Amino acid sequence: SHRTDNYLRHMESMKILPSGAGRIPHLNAVILGESLATEEDDFVLPSEQFANQANVQSPEQYLEMYKRSIEDPAGFWSEIASQFYWKQKWGHQVVHENFDVTKGNIKIEWFKGGITNICYNCLDRNVEAGLGDKVALYWEGNELDVDAKLTYTQLLHQVCQVANYLKDIGVKKGDAVIIYLPMLMELPITMLACARIGAVHSVVFAGFSSESLSQRIIDSKAKVVITCNAVKRGSKVIYLKDIVDTAINDSAQNGVSIDVCLTYENTLALTREDTKWKEGRDIWWQDVIPQYPTTCPVEWLDAEDPLFLLYTSGSTGKPKGVLHTTGGYMVYTATTFKYAFDYKPSDIYWCTADCGWITGHSYVTYGPMLNGATVVLYEGAPNYPDAGRSWNIVDKYKVTIFYTAPTLVRSLMRDSDEYVTRYSRKSLRVLGSVGEPINPSAWRWFYNVIGDSRCPISDTWWQTETGGFLITPLPGAWPQKPGSATFPFFGVQPVIVDEKGVEIDGECSGYLCVKRSWPGAFRTLYGDHERYETTYFKPFAGYYFSGDGCSRDKDGYYWLTGRVDDVINVSGHRIGTAEVESALVSHAQCAEAAVVGVEHEVKGQSIYAFVTLVDGVPYSDELRKELVLTVRKQIGAFAAPDKIHWAPGLPKTRSGKIMRRVLRKIASRQLDELGDTSTLADPNVVNQLIELADS
Ligand code: PRX
Repeated sequence: SHRTDNYLRHMESMKILPSGAGRIPHLNAVILGESLATEEDDFVLPSEQFANQANVQSPEQYLEMYKRSIEDPAGFWSEIASQFYWKQKWGHQVVHENFDVTKGNIKIEWFKGGITNICYNCLDRNVEAGLGDKVALYWEGNELDVDAKLTYTQLLHQVCQVANYLKDIGVKKGDAVIIYLPMLMELPITMLACARIGAVHSVVFAGFSSESLSQRIIDSKAKVVITCNAVKRGSKVIYLKDIVDTAINDSAQNGVSIDVCLTYENTLALTREDTKWKEGRDIWWQDVIPQYPTTCPVEWLDAEDPLFLLYTSGSTGKPKGVLHTTGGYMVYTATTFKYAFDYKPSDIYWCTADCGWITGHSYVTYGPMLNGATVVLYEGAPNYPDAGRSWNIVDKYKVTIFYTAPTLVRSLMRDSDEYVTRYSRKSLRVLGSVGEPINPSAWRWFYNVIGDSRCPISDTWWQTETGGFLITPLPGAWPQKPGSATFPFFGVQPVIVDEKGVEIDGECSGYLCVKRSWPGAFRTLYGDHERYETTYFKPFAGYYFSGDGCSRDKDGYYWLTGRVDDVINVSGHRIGTAEVESALVSHAQCAEAAVVGVEHEVKGQSIYAFVTLVDGVPYSDELRKELVLTVRKQIGAFAAPDKIHWAPGLPKTRSGKIMRRVLRKIASRQLDELGDTSTLADPNVVNQLIELADS
């Protein structure tokens, strides 16, 4: 019809994209709101009504903006940056970069010399613009009838109180502050308070164990930890303060001592009388914070001053402290939020991610607040008290933009649709997905059932390192393909390279890299710039290497295919196989361990561990449990292996390298696809493993 013809024409114009997108020979399409997306559909087109109101309304408009962002990045980004408050404008050069290791050290700088503050831009600027009475945060507690809210003015006041307190106890610009909090309003409040005074926050997801926490305290050399005594998740109470106490003791033994542990009293989970306490070090939040003034001058920072540290897993060694700076991150998160979700001031936005992960930094806290958005925070589990809780929350707050992970979609898909359809969900207009590839059938269920075939889905591809979205649909602009993250965001030049690092054009698959920097890129790994260069810039000289595999189809759409390194993605949580292995071998009876990811219906991937025991130790279920417990204790419950497979030996090459390819095939029981095992030092190992597979 008229609309599909229109799009054919639009798609034709995409030929000018550097990726060599072409025209589409045939088009099986549904139009938003007009019918269900089915297996046969290649495309889901935005409705005219949606496109007409969108921030970017057509592929042509996208192309025009995209072209400008590539040809004149300095002009493109400084125009956007000028919408924020800068105490002093940046120097004459907007971007300084060396992206090529062969030409010297990697260096990325945006808006250098510009003086600003991200907290000021999130709060003061919005209050001054008249948004003071607008709700900034709706907080929904674990229990159905527990909630709270803060306007922008109230949020500013609370942030200032915390900022004043931190200054009072001696926290200064550049100091690291560890935040170990569940999804209470105090979490974004504390992040913003740190940003206000130039302290570098390092949020540790409250599902991490004490050992992981202490590792992060030691690496960041923090003096202050902010936590709460306990939290209820579903029907379970988790004693966070106990975990923190253990971590602080461990850190002290490693020479890093915490002076202050500011503890929020979460009376819904535990009273102060029942909380273990260390006088002199531990301070109740409620005893001090309300006494401080509700105004606090901001610390003006250079655009390249650090904003936060966030630890993430790599394929080897200990977690990496990803460092983001102020100015570029601010401009980038705000802009990606606005366009990828087609944000309008009347929207109510809910992202289900925890602030302990990058999504909660960029798209619960900074991106939305920089846009003056109303954000919903939910403390609890998505299936508590039942599988309908998310839609209950959507209806209660009239959520318009709902951003979540494929794992949640897949787990809810297994329950009856009735949990969804009993709620109206009429308010929804844009859906989002992040964390792992969303398989087309989950995409369709999300689109057809949750979104009533009305709402475009922004499948946003990005990473802790990238700060914000790199490949994402712009709802209203693009025809969507279920399961594809579509096209690059403004200023981003993705390339697909082969093993040798040679760029491949057109329809292809390979390793996903990025050419040239974007404002939200991380600047270093804390204290280890060499590892930064080795991990991300040396594998393919001249490019940033993402660690992901990717293919590009004949129409130029990007399809992410998952990690190509030894990183596993479990329910959107990134876990290094090396970390799980080192936890396992710390058990006295474990001689060696090799961990791989296997496909899992709900979690995307699950952790599968091959374990060799010390000579003479018998196999037992008891020991299996102990090994799993060891991982839970050292990393956290989310990293616990689903399967321990006893291994008398591991398949190794003659040079001693474990052949993970073989282990992956055994783990997924693709025994006829083991491939060539003749190069193994002891080929018989494979048969032994197969025999023990189901024991
Ligand atoms: O493999 C990609 C996957 O998650 C990895 C990044 O993990 P993390 O740094 O923890 O950040 C998660 C939230 C941004 C990537 O290397 N990933 C993330 N989003 C997608 C994805 N894979 C496919 N599609 C996505 N939309």
